[in-house]
Amino acid sequence: MIFKLILIVLLSITDTTLTAVSKCSVDTQLRTPKYHLMEKCYRSKLGIVSKANFTSLISCQRLGFEKKGLAINFSPREAWADSNETVDYTCEVLKCAEADGGLSMVNDSRYDYYSIYAKPVPHVNTTCVPTLGMFFVITKRQNYTLGYRQCKNVSALPVDVTSEQRTDALAQLLASSSIDMAFVGLRSKNGSAFISVNGDPLDCTTYRAWAPGSPRKARKKFDCVVLTKHRTWVSMPCKNNLPIVCELIPGGPYKRGSLFASRMKKPNETTTESQSDDE
Ligand SMILES: *[C@@H]1O[C@H](CO)[C@@H](O)[C@H](O)[C@H]1NC(C)=O
Ligand SMILES: *[C@@H]1O[C@H](CO)[C@@H](O)[C@H](O)[C@H]1NC(C)=O
Ligand SMILES: *[C@@H]1O[C@H](CO)[C@@H](O)[C@H](O)[C@H]1NC(C)=O
Ligand SMILES: *[C@@H]1O[C@H](CO)[C@@H](O)[C@H](O)[C@H]1NC(C)=O
Ligand SMILES: *[C@@H]1O[C@H](CO)[C@@H](O)[C@H](O)[C@H]1NC(C)=O
Ligand SMILES: *[C@@H]1O[C@H](CO)[C@@H](O)[C@H](O)[C@H]1NC(C)=O
Ligand SMILES: *[C@@H]1O[C@H](CO)[C@@H](O)[C@H](O)[C@H]1NC(C)=O
Ligand SMILES: *[C@@H]1O[C@H](CO)[C@@H](O)[C@H](O)[C@H]1NC(C)=O
Repeated sequence: MIFKLILIVLLSITDTTLTAVSKCSVDTQLRTPKYHLMEKCYRSKLGIVSKANFTSLISCQRLGFEKKGLAINFSPREAWADSNETVDYTCEVLKCAEADGGLSMVNDSRYDYYSIYAKPVPHVNTTCVPTLGMFFVITKRQNYTLGYRQCKNVSALPVDVTSEQRTDALAQLLASSSIDMAFVGLRSKNGSAFISVNGDPLDCTTYRAWAPGSPRKARKKFDCVVLTKHRTWVSMPCKNNLPIVCELIPGGPYKRGSLFASRMKKPNETTTESQSDDE
């Protein structure tokens, strides 16, 4: 009974705090703070943003969030006994996460590999921007509705560009893909203020990168936003046909083995025994 009362009090407190800030989400990034176990006895050799000696996974994960790591290598206590090799640090926070194929993974019985991106991503070339996220460009020219749908189809969303770091990094991604401009995750519905894909109105952030003349006043018509390779935003009709930049949504669950799916799909697997040292 007392528990129930406390619970009700707690709930009503969170309720009021929630309604007070409901216009803007706490974290503008789409990231949910969870590292999923991907592969045991594997370690990713991607760049390290921070490392420490922790005995608990939770401490390592906490360091991961703090440093905005996209993945971690963690060495659990059980693994130390199995191996006569010592580890320098039990917790390695990584700037990036492995993409499909896990090309930077190595066998290492001392470590387990965890990532915030645990869903399999079929057939897209993702680019990691260190500590920011995993992105890809759909180069096909199509309207925003179709582009949005294609992002969603691979557990992604049109990108959030509401910080200088994001606008700069993604403009660079466009430039390196020889794309002048592409749709991003900001749009107006029926003349409303621009709303980010996470539901936040643009007012929730202060950074702006509007090109001269943007945003156009006729927001009902110029209802989408494109990012240019020159690090500016331009308002444009959603019905125009343009490429789109998508961002992978962190999350799971992980289907075991799917990170290595493309590696396992080697043809003639059974016929290569005679040359087993070809790797
Ligand atoms: C670990 O032990 C194996 C045999 O059990 C040995 O061959 C190897 O050299 C040892 N490695 C180190 C780093 O001591
Ligand atoms: C971290 O802990 C491991 C295992 O206890 C130990 O071998 C290693 O020397 C420690 N590293 C540092 C930098 O203290
Ligand atoms: C890791 O080891 C397993 C078996 O010991 C082997 O099948 C696999 O190919 C190895 N993977 C890498 C990336 O070395
Ligand atoms: C991935 O990138 C490679 C090389 O840039 C390209 O040849 C290939 O078509 C791309 N694949 C997809 C699905 O975009
Ligand atoms: C979504 O993915 C499925 C399977 O990968 C594909 O058949 C379908 O055409 C895709 N839809 C869009 C809108 O891209
Ligand atoms: C769009 O806004 C106009 C007036 O601003 C309103 O009359 C109309 O019902 C709205 N349409 C939708 C689909 O919300
Ligand atoms: C987007 O293109 C599709 C296919 O051409 C069309 O059916 C749809 O109405 C278009 N949507 C917008 C908002 O222009
Ligand atoms: C690999 O597979 C193809 C088609 O299944 C076959 O024609 C070829 O002979 C195979 N190669 C080897 C080395 O077995």
